[in-house]
Amino acid sequence: MRYLCLLLIMLFTCCSLLANSSDYVRIETNNTVMILNAQKGKIPLFVHYGNLVTAMDIDNSMTGLMTEAFPVFGMSALNEPVLQVVHADGNPSLKMVVEEVTQTVGNEVRLTQILLKDEVYPFYTRLCFKAYPRYDVIEMWTEIFHKEKKTVALQKYASAYIPVDPGNHWLSHLQGYMMNETNLVEEPLLSGSKMIHSRDGIRTSQCSNPSFMVSLDQKPSETGGSVIAGSLAWSGNYKMLFNKSYTHQLNISAGMNEEGAEYRLAPMEQFRTPQLVLTFSTRGKGGASRNLHRWARENKLIKGTALKDILLNSWEGVYFNIKQGVMNEMMQEFSSIGGEMFVMDDGWFGNKYPRNNDKTSLGDWTVCREKLPDGIEGLIDCAQQNNLRFGIWIEPEMTNLQSELYEEKPHWVLHHPNRTPGVGRGGSQLVLDMTNPEVRDYVYDIVDRLLTDYPQIAYIKWDTNMSLQDYGSSYLPANKQSHLYIEYHRGLTKVFERIRSKYPDVIMQACAGGGGRVNYAYMPYFNEFWTSDNTDAVQRLYTQWGFQCFYPANTMAAHVSASPNHQSGRIVPLKFRFDVAMTGRLGMEMDPGKLSKGEKEAAKAAIEAYKSVRELVQLGDLYRLISPYENRRTASLMYVDSLKNRAVFFAYQIDAFVQQAPVRYKMDGLDPLKKYRLTEINKKLQGKSRFVQDGKAISGRFLMTEGLYLPLKREYDSMVIEITEIKE
Ligand code: GLA
Repeated sequence: MRYLCLLLIMLFTCCSLLANSSDYVRIETNNTVMILNAQKGKIPLFVHYGNLVTAMDIDNSMTGLMTEAFPVFGMSALNEPVLQVVHADGNPSLKMVVEEVTQTVGNEVRLTQILLKDEVYPFYTRLCFKAYPRYDVIEMWTEIFHKEKKTVALQKYASAYIPVDPGNHWLSHLQGYMMNETNLVEEPLLSGSKMIHSRDGIRTSQCSNPSFMVSLDQKPSETGGSVIAGSLAWSGNYKMLFNKSYTHQLNISAGMNEEGAEYRLAPMEQFRTPQLVLTFSTRGKGGASRNLHRWARENKLIKGTALKDILLNSWEGVYFNIKQGVMNEMMQEFSSIGGEMFVMDDGWFGNKYPRNNDKTSLGDWTVCREKLPDGIEGLIDCAQQNNLRFGIWIEPEMTNLQSELYEEKPHWVLHHPNRTPGVGRGGSQLVLDMTNPEVRDYVYDIVDRLLTDYPQIAYIKWDTNMSLQDYGSSYLPANKQSHLYIEYHRGLTKVFERIRSKYPDVIMQACAGGGGRVNYAYMPYFNEFWTSDNTDAVQRLYTQWGFQCFYPANTMAAHVSASPNHQSGRIVPLKFRFDVAMTGRLGMEMDPGKLSKGEKEAAKAAIEAYKSVRELVQLGDLYRLISPYENRRTASLMYVDSLKNRAVFFAYQIDAFVQQAPVRYKMDGLDPLKKYRLTEINKKLQGKSRFVQDGKAISGRFLMTEGLYLPLKREYDSMVIEITEIKE
């Protein structure tokens, strides 16, 4: 009976659509289209998102969705509302109908805006869609405003709502924790709701990431099947809901997490929600990732197509034991093996309270003269003598109980007036109130002072090692305390804007105890992310695999560290460690002085090999071939340039069983009609190549359909192959 009713409703809606197909709004890219039905004075309907289809096809096949495009609370309870408010007079209902549709069509972007107005109240929401035709990407967000007499309370305010036809839906997303970030989890979406969310307040991608892929008709595949992928460009708390209704339709909504964050919207104030970056591909997860990567590099990421330096970060080499002599030695050693940049991590600052551990000094950003008698100038001189660029670590949003800053400005930390503030790292860390403009000036000045006093500083590692615990701001008025989760990030973004307008060229890394701040909102300001504090090469294969489902390789800082690894204790050969780190922005995270002579030679050769394929890795198209999550004891991926002239292929033996079935490594992304020469790079130093096909010519077709057996038999063995077109 229920189904009959639904069928009737669908048919009825369908008929009303048929009569008005001129009211279709098409949001089109080269290979995809989102279609809404937006008739003036009516509730907007969602018709289609996916392959390019025509109005005729939709009308005549009657397979479009025809469901509410933007369910709101108060007049219907069928769909999970994405907008819920309490009007100035206390009425908690909305009925939003189309007021106006505008479309501006440019070559590179097309903007569609559907203005909705409540039938009764002067309350408006603009649904915004920015399409990037060449990339098959659409950004979706909303703008909410009103002309009521007093404040309206926003209780739910999602950025986007995407209904999906019934099907065999699978969700791919990232879960984990500090030192085990971005694990790829794949699960069927059956009935009911699945939520991906964060309420950390600050390091919101540490446990889960605001990104998803939904495979529409089958178990997720790298190479085939229709996939919708999305990532929310927001660094604060978020919520993504996948609600499989009893009609089997899947309703996806994404936006800021409203929990504890009711927003009191003043008349004519505009509330803009963060963008959901959305793509659709029929080439499986791989196609969806490549769409996002390409779009991010060319549209969102600051200097997204510039090549990045190979750097040494001091953290796992010396931790807090920063000393002039040790820094100088590290720089000399790194330069001698071909390094390009040196970054001094935590431990360089504080005079009244020198930073010797994680219990003191955050906020006292003056160089510790006891540790560095020649100051930052001395380090920069040494870097220059060694032909290295120089970078520095800061954690400017934070302070410690024991610090000069906290002694002077205790009211600057987030706290409740009648409670002792909770502490984080080291039992003493506190968060500064980024809603306060004075604090924002102070944070900006830290960076501005460093970069004006030392214009040679080329890189800043911006760290954040605490959650937002004390939900109390001494700056926000009592009736706006619930804005804190949002205003913290809006405030911080203002600081980033100021920094970037004065210093567009300095490289900035977003770190948050590892991958706690990996999101699209940071891309206009941060050139890269610290993927994880776990540098174990084996675990990194998994972490990096998940990370790269959504984020491009040139944003993925990947460092070679010591063996045994400091986090896992695992002993892994240096070549394997390099081969894993070479798939991102390569760096090192150790004291290179501790390497043996032979290891130094190997590291030098690996760095040279990376330089020869750096452009392919950092700017090429990623093809994931064998997933470590499939438990085949191997993993493999490759990067191909846009013309399919060159590629670099990576294979890893994670574990080894005697008499294990050999694996055929099938490639992807090449031109089947081209002939390629295969050359092993970053070979083992001892002996000649084990790669029997070394230097030989093989067609793209064979490499992709038949593949190759590789001599990888022992655990932690790996191989990197450069593939170059042979031009006749
Ligand atoms: C965090 C970062 C590390 C390092 C330390 C320094 O844990 O993730 O990379 O910078 O802080 O204290």
